[in-house]
Formats: sequence, structure tokens, C-alpha cells
Amino acid sequence: MTVTPRSAGAPALAFFKDLRPPAGDFRTDVLEGLAKPQKAIPPKYFYDAEGSRIFDRITRAPEYYLTRTELTLLDRIGPELRALAGSGAVVLEPGAGSGVKVRKLIDALEAPAAYVGMDISGDHVKAACADIASDHQDMIIGAVCHDFTRPIDLDALPLPPGRRVVFFPGSTIGNFELIDARALLQTFRDWLRPGDGLLIGADLRKDARVLEAAYDDADGATADFNFNLVRRINTELDGTLDPEGLRYKAFWNPYRSRMEMYLSAVRDQRFTVSGRAFQLREHETIHTENSHKFTLDTFRDLSKSAGLAPKHAFTAPDGAFSIHWLERAGEA
Ligand code: TRP
Repeated sequence: MTVTPRSAGAPALAFFKDLRPPAGDFRTDVLEGLAKPQKAIPPKYFYDAEGSRIFDRITRAPEYYLTRTELTLLDRIGPELRALAGSGAVVLEPGAGSGVKVRKLIDALEAPAAYVGMDISGDHVKAACADIASDHQDMIIGAVCHDFTRPIDLDALPLPPGRRVVFFPGSTIGNFELIDARALLQTFRDWLRPGDGLLIGADLRKDARVLEAAYDDADGATADFNFNLVRRINTELDGTLDPEGLRYKAFWNPYRSRMEMYLSAVRDQRFTVSGRAFQLREHETIHTENSHKFTLDTFRDLSKSAGLAPKHAFTAPDGAFSIHWLERAGEA
């Protein structure tokens, strides 16, 4: 880990820790996913540097109500969050991305002591955290390159004492199968000590047309995001997938309460990845992502099943999105 001394006028990260998952993971996971009867690629591979940039474009698409709604909600509930977190909080953000949301949280809090952004895209998180550091020279700001689905020893980070606030905005929790979402919530619960909080976003069920537009914007940012995966496979894993032979599709699955995203073959194609041969039949799909949508109750139930106590839920005025404050269950 690099520990950088900070001097006035030269804002820098207090630390950067590189826990980048081994590059072999991508290859193993893609080959495994393409060998399944329903071909699938784990969504975390969307977020390389280019993917993170495209995702930022999605968040600005007029149809993608999520980011806008959550940012407005964060502004509104600032005073409540300030009261819940108390003074001197240590904010930890797994999957930090561009840092736009956490700035609102930091601004709402009373003298926050530290912020640590963690993201699978190391350069992206480093840059975003360095930016935050330059605006908050009174805080300890660190960055970690890390895949939050893997274990991490928080005690190995130079964190100051103070109430931890684990911040997991967006609707990333919805991208996991429910059983994996529960496991991830359990991981975050283990990061918490009594009195600490998990502040987490959960997107809410709504009209299918609104959802399907949000996940297939007219400008094509979401489609680009999916095709970036194809580009990654072709360049990093020596793949021969023909992007021209694929089409992006998103639809609402009411039975499982989730959006489902696919790349669908417009014709038969044979291709190889890392020397291994695969084929796609016309209309056959590669599943790229799910985005589960909750009600306040289904999200509270999921949280409870992970050993978390739902303490507060904040909902956008139009009912589109919710933010929850959860604490370790079974403790005062
Ligand atoms: N966490 C985001 C969501 O579920 C990710 C996302 C947005 C996404 N649009 C997408 C993932 C399109 C795949 C395809 O809203």
C-alpha cells in the first residue's frame, strides 16, 4: 500500500490499496458463463475504464430515472442522515464509481473524519477519490481497488476511529440474484460494529414501460454498455464474437420482479474465446444483467434475512426509489 504524506496545497490520497482481482478471473468467468445452457456473463465485467465512462453516460440519460431521483432524495434527507451518522463518521463506499453521490453525503454530514472509495476499476476510483480529497483537505481520503464480492480485511486499512457508514447507493444490490444479494448484505453487516450504519439504495417496482425505457435508452448508451462487454471479450480474451450479429434486449420479468438484459443473436454464429469454440443460434441470448425491483417491504425482508435491522426508509416523493438505513440486528 502506498501511504502518501499530505502537505498543505498538495491534496493527495492518504492511501491507495491495490487489491485488484487476478486478471485470470475474467477469462475463467466468461468461459464458464458461455458454457452454460443459458449463456451468461457476470455483470461486474461491465465496469472497466471504458464501461465506467459509458455507465456515467447512462446515468445522464433522460429515461434513466434512478440516478437523478436518488441524488434529489439524498439532498432532501441530508439533515436526517446528519443526525443518524453523528459527528466524525468514517464513510466506506464499495463500488464507488465516480463519487458524485458520496459528495452529497459528505456535505450533509457533520465533520466526517474519513472517506474510502473502493471499486473494481482502480484508475477510476483513484481519480475520483483524489478529486474528493482536493475538495476535502480536512478529511482522510483513501482509495482501494477491490471487487466487493471478495473478502476484504478492513482492519488492514488505516481507518480512523469513528462511526462507520457503509454507503451503497444506486441499485447495485438489485443486480444480484436474491441469494447473492443476501450474501453481500451479510458481508456489509460484518463490516459494521454496533451503532454503525449501512446506507443503501433500492429501486422500487413501477410501470413496466418506465422500467423498460430506463434500461434501453433511446440514445443507445445502455446498448453501448453491453457491447463494451463484447469488445472486452474480443480484445482481452482473443474473442471472435461478431457484434453485428448481436442485438441488445431488455425486458421486465414481473414474476421475478426484475429487469433482465440480454445480448440476442440475430443469426447463427460460431465464435471462439481464448481458443475455445462456442455457438449461438438465431434468437439465442447471452444474459448480461438483472436489476431487481423491490417494495419497501420486500427490501426490508431481504435485509432482515441478512441479519440487518431496517431502521429508516426514505422514499422519493414520486415513489420511484428508496434509500434505507440499516444497522446490525440483535444489538442495541
Ligand atoms: N446498477 C445499475 C442498475 O441496475 C446497472 C445498470 C444500469 C445496467 N443500466 C444497465 C446494467 C444496463 C446492465 C445494463 O440500474
